[in-house]
Amino acid sequence: MEIVIQPTAEDIASIVADSIEQLLGSHEAPILGLATGSSPLPVYRELVRRHVEQGMSFAHARAFLLDEYVGLPAGHPESYREVIRREFTGLVDITDDHVQSPDGFSAEIATAGERYDAAIAAAGGIDLQLLGIGTDGHIAFNEPGSSLASRTRLKTLTEQTRQDNARFFDSVEDVPFHVLTQGLGTILEARHLVLVASGENKAEVVAAMVEGPLSAFCPGSVLQLHPHATVLLDEAAASQLKFTDYYRYSYAHKPDWQQL
Ligand code: F6R
Repeated sequence: MEIVIQPTAEDIASIVADSIEQLLGSHEAPILGLATGSSPLPVYRELVRRHVEQGMSFAHARAFLLDEYVGLPAGHPESYREVIRREFTGLVDITDDHVQSPDGFSAEIATAGERYDAAIAAAGGIDLQLLGIGTDGHIAFNEPGSSLASRTRLKTLTEQTRQDNARFFDSVEDVPFHVLTQGLGTILEARHLVLVASGENKAEVVAAMVEGPLSAFCPGSVLQLHPHATVLLDEAAASQLKFTDYYRYSYAHKPDWQQL
């Protein structure tokens, strides 16, 4: 796992955007894995800026979302499909039908996860998966206790996550109890995992994810199993890590030919 510590979320966004730009430029049909929530927003802003000002094109790309609330009808403003359209995909030149999300309003919700995993596999798998981490250690919506081998399926949100996400709804009562989420095993199949975190409130969970034991009780720790995982942190999110001197030293001495 590579740990990159930067002064601000904007510095992180610029490095991640470089990596995505490199992917778009080198693949005929790149597949992006997109996360919602606050953490990736600076990345999306930077990608939109490059699209508008420098002509960076996503026309040949496809994208898969990590997760979706169950029970929000298509077009609901807080469904992740709508959120990602508003914050990123609707602002660049990716075709709308090239963006897929788990169908949280499916009449056959029990098998919707299987169909989603099959769609990802049929597309050739995800090249670069963006991730954030929740204060309880969840990635996508794999709450503590999620199997490290889990596939896309229905999960029940913890009260903590519902409270954390209440800021996007009128009240916490409006936050759905259930979600469809890529499983930890599904996420591990992406070729490159890129997790971004910033702010003091993520410091404890980041330390558990990076330097703690591999455990279903910190689902983010599953990144320790991935051969190509990059974790980008601002100073506050990195503040409880013990091995920071080495992370900074190795990034400073990164060979020129080696990308993220
Ligand atoms: C959302 C997702 C979640 C968020 C996590 C952190 O698609 O996958 O795991 O990344 O809840 O959310 P923020 O970034 O809002 O702190």
